[in-house]
Amino acid sequence: MTFKRRYLMCRPTHFAVTYRINPWMDPTAPYDNALAISQWENLRQTFLDLGHTVELIDPLPGLPDMVFAANGATVVDGRALGVQFRDAERADEAPAYAAWFRENGFDVLEPKHTNEGEGDILLAGDVLLAGTGFRTSHASHAETQEFLQRPVITLQLVDPAYYHLDTALCVLDETNIAYLPQAFSPGSQAVLRQLFPNAIIATPEDAAVLGLNAVSDGETVVLAEQATHLAGALRAAGYRTIGVDMSELRKAGGGPKCCTLEVRR
Ligand code: ARG
Repeated sequence: MTFKRRYLMCRPTHFAVTYRINPWMDPTAPYDNALAISQWENLRQTFLDLGHTVELIDPLPGLPDMVFAANGATVVDGRALGVQFRDAERADEAPAYAAWFRENGFDVLEPKHTNEGEGDILLAGDVLLAGTGFRTSHASHAETQEFLQRPVITLQLVDPAYYHLDTALCVLDETNIAYLPQAFSPGSQAVLRQLFPNAIIATPEDAAVLGLNAVSDGETVVLAEQATHLAGALRAAGYRTIGVDMSELRKAGGGPKCCTLEVRR
């Protein structure tokens, strides 16, 4: 088992909070672009120190959310399922990410249905967990299964604060996850209990600092440093944790995982 991963990231050169497409965003509140850049640099350095490879895509002016690379694609076995955003503000990110994957030799599908990449579609062992309810459409789940050739498990998100699956659930390794049950419909909670009986249950306080928006390589979990309860629960379960401060990017509704797209060749 190897813990070395390949990630794609996008420097928040043009990061800003100028529109509101999720409840975390307040275009009237101040934000600090330089602080966002230094928090992002620290996240990138954390991955490099762990021995992971970080590839970069050029940030484009006028796309303040492009830093959230997780929304750029879903990549399994060298196939990149492209994205289609719900909101017009982010639409132009889709062709930019698709072009990067095409230029880097991936088989790219431009989707017919709305899907926001790894924000809502997460590989957990041999299956894909797919969120719907706010961004990624239910119709896209069939398209995802067909192209990525893995079984897709539909999960219904119910809390607008946890609008992407990766804000409510973190894949820890091949067999386990951490999640906030209240962010899911009763039926989806039952499915998660059945599939992951040993899952780590996050508290509302963990989720409220986007603690579940974490990046795990199977051994070390990189998560918001404010998520102290979740970090303790992860360590008790045998994971190593590294806390990072992403408070500036959280003003746009993103944490470490949102900034990180896993590239599986
Ligand atoms: N402002 C962005 C949006 O609302 C944040 C995206 C966060 N990304 C994620 N993978 N959860 O679309």
